Amino acid sequence: MKFRSRLVVNLNNLKANFLEIKKLAPHSQLLFMVKADGYGHGMIPVSRFAYEELGVREFGCATIGEALKLREELHDLHFDIYVFSDIQLELHENADIYLKKRIIPVISNLSELEYLLTNKDFLHFPLCLKFNTGMNRLGLNLADQDAVIALLKKHQRNNLHHLISHFANASFSMEKDSRNIFQRENFTKIKEKFVQAGIKLERTSQSNSGTIEQKTGLDHDTHIRPGLMMYGPSSLASDLKSFYQGKLVSKLETYILRTFEVKKGEPVGYNSTPCPDDGIIAILAIGYGDGFFNRYSGAHLYHRGIEGTIIGRVSMDMTHVFFPKDAKEKIKAHEVFTIWGQNEGDLAKFSKETNTIPYELFCSILPRVPRVYKLD
Ligand SMILES: Cc1ncc(COP(=O)(O)O)c(C=O)c1O
Repeated sequence: MKFRSRLVVNLNNLKANFLEIKKLAPHSQLLFMVKADGYGHGMIPVSRFAYEELGVREFGCATIGEALKLREELHDLHFDIYVFSDIQLELHENADIYLKKRIIPVISNLSELEYLLTNKDFLHFPLCLKFNTGMNRLGLNLADQDAVIALLKKHQRNNLHHLISHFANASFSMEKDSRNIFQRENFTKIKEKFVQAGIKLERTSQSNSGTIEQKTGLDHDTHIRPGLMMYGPSSLASDLKSFYQGKLVSKLETYILRTFEVKKGEPVGYNSTPCPDDGIIAILAIGYGDGFFNRYSGAHLYHRGIEGTIIGRVSMDMTHVFFPKDAKEKIKAHEVFTIWGQNEGDLAKFSKETNTIPYELFCSILPRVPRVYKLD
């Protein structure tokens, strides 16, 4: 069987990106964010490759379900897994999963911390705390720090396995954006206070892709936590200088099912959208059943260097692309059609036109689209 629509994942590019990141942060350890199925690239194959070929030993998930899958499917490998947001520690049956599967929940409030500290099964379990330094999402607040220290002391815990915070504005300037400066300063204060209280910080991290790309302050912590940049794209605002040239790891390919000539005004597809001019329609074998959405209508796609426009309603399984009529010889049925990953900057252009972000485009690709791995 030939896959019509597929996400080709180029592991050579993942390796190249990893090596570039190591150049930007030569002294940092890397906690690789593989949540949301490895940003849509396939958490298991990507993590296995990162472990075996890149030497990564720490991975970040969002939910306990993702973490459990990662641990179970890579049970032959030894690495740390962190669960960052949906830790579900209030469901006490999960305690067993954390303990038995060596999964580290990122603690972001006092009641979760108290639960871990008072449960004797967790006596020697690594503690990972997340502080809210100004993003105002999850995290312990600065005002909680005295209570945290008191709790740690009460339970004779004099070290933290990992102390974490997260920037709200990493895609803006790390040197000029007041929120970034504020968050960095707050994290520094928090770290200093723990150290003064005799709490050893084994690992600390605050930087994700946007910060790493700007190459500032990476030496303040032991770890960095890249997600998006590992998969290629930049997450920086367009006016900012990036020190990173990532290679796009994925290529979204589909297939031209059929082509036909149309006259200006002729209706196509659901809701009978009139064609803007005389031209050629290519019917692509991709639709919202693959994670390619109706709101992409109007965006431009390219085939053999010719610009086409998605017109009308995207269907569950098919998409109409309108090409000018002089493209007739170049737009042929049964050819592979690349949505992104063929030309420099095509993903960025598509995400701009569709008012999405690469994060969202990657995570939208549904399971019907097989992930195919390429390694030379
Ligand atoms: C806590 C945390 N760390 C790191 C990352 C990775 O961010 P990015 O993909 O921008 O590198 C995320 C992503 O949302 C996150 O929530």
